[in-house]
Amino acid sequence: MILKEMKNIEKNKVQKKRETFSSGIAVFFATLSSAVGLGNIWKFPSMVGTNGGGAFILVYLVAVLLVSLPVMISEFYIGRRSRRNTVGAFDKLNAPPFFKIVGYLGVISTSLILFFYSAVSGWVYSYLFKAIKGDFKELGSLTMDQATDKITKAFDTTIGGNISPMLWQLIPILFVTIIIIAGVKQGIEKVTKTSMPILFLLIIITCVIALSLDGASQGIDFLLKIDLSTITPSMVLAALGLAFFKLSIGVGTMITYGSYITDDNSMIGNAFKVMLSDTLVSITVGLAIFPAVFTFGLEPTEGPALLFNTIPLVFSRIPFGNLLIIIFFLLTSLAATMSMLSLVEVPVAFLIEEVNIKRKTAVIFIMSITAIVGLLTVHPQSILGNIKVFGLSFFDLFDYISSNILMPVTGLLIIIFVGYFTRKSDIYNELSNNHSLRNKWTIRIFYLLAKYLAPILILIVFLNSLGLLG
Ligand code: PHE
Repeated sequence: MILKEMKNIEKNKVQKKRETFSSGIAVFFATLSSAVGLGNIWKFPSMVGTNGGGAFILVYLVAVLLVSLPVMISEFYIGRRSRRNTVGAFDKLNAPPFFKIVGYLGVISTSLILFFYSAVSGWVYSYLFKAIKGDFKELGSLTMDQATDKITKAFDTTIGGNISPMLWQLIPILFVTIIIIAGVKQGIEKVTKTSMPILFLLIIITCVIALSLDGASQGIDFLLKIDLSTITPSMVLAALGLAFFKLSIGVGTMITYGSYITDDNSMIGNAFKVMLSDTLVSITVGLAIFPAVFTFGLEPTEGPALLFNTIPLVFSRIPFGNLLIIIFFLLTSLAATMSMLSLVEVPVAFLIEEVNIKRKTAVIFIMSITAIVGLLTVHPQSILGNIKVFGLSFFDLFDYISSNILMPVTGLLIIIFVGYFTRKSDIYNELSNNHSLRNKWTIRIFYLLAKYLAPILILIVFLNSLGLLG
């Protein structure tokens, strides 16, 4: 009993020093910077390409609206109401002990994602460097076949090289370490508030130029053409997984960032704005990539290499192309780094508050694990790089487990907690900032989605894709 009291006093001390973001706009940029990342620029186009275009986008949008949005609002609710990390939050809200598992799952999933995310971020940084060095300039003077051959080889050596991919992976890890050590306001907030507007500008520039290419209309057709016959259970699961991944939900990120949201913030409004902006960014990136794919006769189904091959190939053939390649990979590096910040903050906040260690130590601990395990498992040339589990490399396995299993399951538990184990009045109080916002109707809609529709949809998609619904 006394021990518990002492623990609580200790926790309250941590609680008092707890930071928050400083304004509504800071909350918006921070949460959006988590959402916008490699998911939008690298995963979204490649998944749209391999899953047949418009129909996939349609399913994805339905998933975002009916599932991701209510899960995001639920995470914000849990975070701000408790003002704790993912594990401590459920304690603070007097959740049945079982729900603590949600917090631990979050810590595990964010780490798994970090392992492969930092690898892809490393590729992006290395492409930025190549572009700055002018490596892609000569592509423009080669024939299309020669250029394609060259760029495919460049990608293979970038990801398969002996030592360089590992070194590149360390660079984003290092940046993120420095920023996260600086803290919530001085680190995350400062970086995201200055970088997000630049990111938007860069995306718009690339998109406008891509849309002026000859194959633009074919690219747009591909994005808008909806062939319902391409919809399969595994495609729906992939779309749902992406809807979780892109909005950074189902891993406790939005619980953690939610715990830094100011008291006067309209969290439903913020979730809506983040969802909308994130979707716009994805579509804009799609509009930048697919016209290019069709103009130059590339395959939209190229998968993970799509971004890395198309962008240099295409832009090297137009005026000021090299500058554009630099811009594009710069924006991708920025987006990747900022999403990594939010991934790292989950285990870091957990270690600070639950294990009682200093921020700096927590960050260095997590980032060292990311570096070591990430390097060992992700790179084909490393000791564990060639091992396959269930026919998948560690890279694909971590991606599959986090996006297609852990995120939907954790998301489901989060929404069940809010829908079934939380007092309705608490939800109304928190989401209306103690009735200072006039948003009763939006809360009501949210509540219905969270209690009935979203959990049922997640469950159906999940069981169906496992083949359990016949
Ligand atoms: N949303 C990020 C992206 O689209 C990835 C991410 C997932 C970040 C989960 C945090 C938590 O790239």
